[in-house]
Amino acid sequence: MVGDLADSLIREILRLKRELNAIILAHNYQRGEIQDIADFVGDSLELSITASTKPCDIIVFCGVHFMAESASILSPEKTVLLPEIDATCPMADMIEVSSPRKVWKSFPGYEIQPNFVFPHDFTLKDIKALYPEAPVVSYVNTTAAVKAESYICCTSANVIKIIESLEADTVICVPDKNLSMWAQKHTKKKVITWDGFCHVHDRITIEDVMKAKKQYPKALFMAHPECRLEVLEAADHVTSTSGMLRFAKASDAKEFIVGTETGIIYRLKKENPDKVFYPLRKDMVCPNMKKTTLKSVLTAMQKMKNVIKVPEEIRVPAKKALDRMLLIK
Ligand code: 13P
Ligand code: SF4
Repeated sequence: MVGDLADSLIREILRLKRELNAIILAHNYQRGEIQDIADFVGDSLELSITASTKPCDIIVFCGVHFMAESASILSPEKTVLLPEIDATCPMADMIEVSSPRKVWKSFPGYEIQPNFVFPHDFTLKDIKALYPEAPVVSYVNTTAAVKAESYICCTSANVIKIIESLEADTVICVPDKNLSMWAQKHTKKKVITWDGFCHVHDRITIEDVMKAKKQYPKALFMAHPECRLEVLEAADHVTSTSGMLRFAKASDAKEFIVGTETGIIYRLKKENPDKVFYPLRKDMVCPNMKKTTLKSVLTAMQKMKNVIKVPEEIRVPAKKALDRMLLIK
């Protein structure tokens, strides 16, 4: 964007922000210019905490739909705006709560083997019916309706801690199979998984990792738990997006291969000007995270456009699941 136009958009956003008593939250994958105007940039867990604790009237959520929904669930008294209404997370929309079909009943004696992953035909209620004693741990990358059917939520930053905090020996963890398998590797509990995935992270192969490691032999490899298990097993550190920022800052290493969406490299470079960051693959780009622009932020604020609101009958049980997560320190 031309400098003068960007400057005038930024000036108007900042003026309106004061006038409306608004705060701007941005996920670590957002475009650099969006991160720069935000009051707070973070991972899903940090953004949920900030949304629920920062006093303000309006939250402008620069991220994807489920994140704005979580903010609205936690703070129904605040108006939550999502600048780009089509900015969704395909993984969050994968699993359904229920459907008129009862597919699992058409598989009598269905053999559930170790490392079994429930296929897409199974809804959350189907799995709950098969494991009535198992609490549902839903990744925050889910719809409000799925959260409302869950006992507790988790993020990539706390999934293992959340599972370990539960009394049950068997838990249902949806929708991301990679995150669930990573958790399974780190807990003695049985983790029931479903075949969800993030198209940005799941496309990464172990061959991509080997190639990058060969190209940058001195670099440490950081990976997001949405990557496949064999990719995670080859990583020097597996963590959430903000976990990568902390790891890179604290490390003595000077070079890093970044196994997550490339938007985070903007902040990694900004906070570590003496270090070098290589994307594991240049096409690790989440198109939905890139939809938000200065123009769409300004338009949403001017017109109070794209208000995210969850119906009370879903919001109340969904909030319970989020609150339980936020209590685990
Ligand atoms: P983080 O919570 O680690 O920021 O991840 C969110 C996400 O959407 C990853 O693809
Ligand atoms: Fe969803 Fe993947 Fe985009 Fe994260 S990177 S918002 S999980 S599609």
